[in-house]
Amino acid sequence: MAEADNFFRDTPEPPNFVEKKRKIEEFVARHSNGDTPVVLVTSGGTNVPLEGNTVRFIDNFSIGTRGSASAEYFLEHGYAVIFLHRGRSLQPFTRHLPQRQLLDILEVQTGASGENQLCVKHDQSKTLFAVVEKYQKVQNEGRLLMVDFTSLTDYLHLLRASSLIMDKLGNKAFLYLAAAVSDFYIPRDKMPLHKVQSSNGPLQLSLELVPKMLDALVKNWVCSAYVVSFKLETDPNLLIMKAQQALEKYEHQLVIGNVLDTRKIEVVFVTNNDEQWIKLEQEEIDTGVEIESKIVTSLVERHRQFLNE
Ligand code: PMT
Repeated sequence: MAEADNFFRDTPEPPNFVEKKRKIEEFVARHSNGDTPVVLVTSGGTNVPLEGNTVRFIDNFSIGTRGSASAEYFLEHGYAVIFLHRGRSLQPFTRHLPQRQLLDILEVQTGASGENQLCVKHDQSKTLFAVVEKYQKVQNEGRLLMVDFTSLTDYLHLLRASSLIMDKLGNKAFLYLAAAVSDFYIPRDKMPLHKVQSSNGPLQLSLELVPKMLDALVKNWVCSAYVVSFKLETDPNLLIMKAQQALEKYEHQLVIGNVLDTRKIEVVFVTNNDEQWIKLEQEEIDTGVEIESKIVTSLVERHRQFLNE
């Protein structure tokens, strides 16, 4: 725990931290009295700067598919969602928009009265209609808060702040930690301020270990919450063992194991009592079912049981 405290003492708060914390506080306060459960969904990759005035950084593969899709399904199940995401990664609802230029889906049409109007092209309107309708409903109900981060340190400061704020929700709080979090970083006192010069020759990097924050999160920050973490491996033979180790070490409710290559078609839920594989059948893949819909449906049921215990 002391390691986590030192990390926060020695790393700067993210830009607009006070404002972001205020919005999270307001959001949680708004949902603290009713029956709406609140889930924090973390999503996307964390980057690790190599220079104080950052030109270069180390990044990872995640574009936030898991987090953004899951957030939508939690919203469908009636949850209020704090979506803590990497800036410019995938977001709920807009992820369905065509990955083309916005201008390619719009066109100017001349109306009956001769006035020009901006319209969505016919082949796109059905998809957009459904997305906008769902988005508006969620916005009108005030059930989605978007909070962005870029670097590893931004993410961890915001994760701690959100968790501490959500603690007042008791077991109505749910944390779904799908972001891809770096294990290595360069502490501020070991980082050059200015751009590293190639004229100095090949670059030697020395990265230090980031303290595992799950320990402090479960035991100190948000003690009564339902906490689900993800375990990512590239070697399938290590997956279950690593997930079990995480569960034993951090003593939270559930670890979802996934392998990089197969993460979109199968995951395994590991708890103290069981292992449950969730897989997409070929027919489901062919018809566009997303594994996150099955993950979230199962989690909502598990959270319901947790609330009843
Ligand atoms: O975004 P996509 O492309 O859809 O990919 C989704 C995903 C593969 C990123 C996602 O499903 C996933 O597995 N996310 C977790 C990845 C990860 O950080 O795994 P890990 O084995 O490095 O960490 C395990 C857990 O420890 C994570 O819950 C993480 O939040 C936590 N952690 C990690 C580092 C750290 N310093 N402190 C932590 O508490």
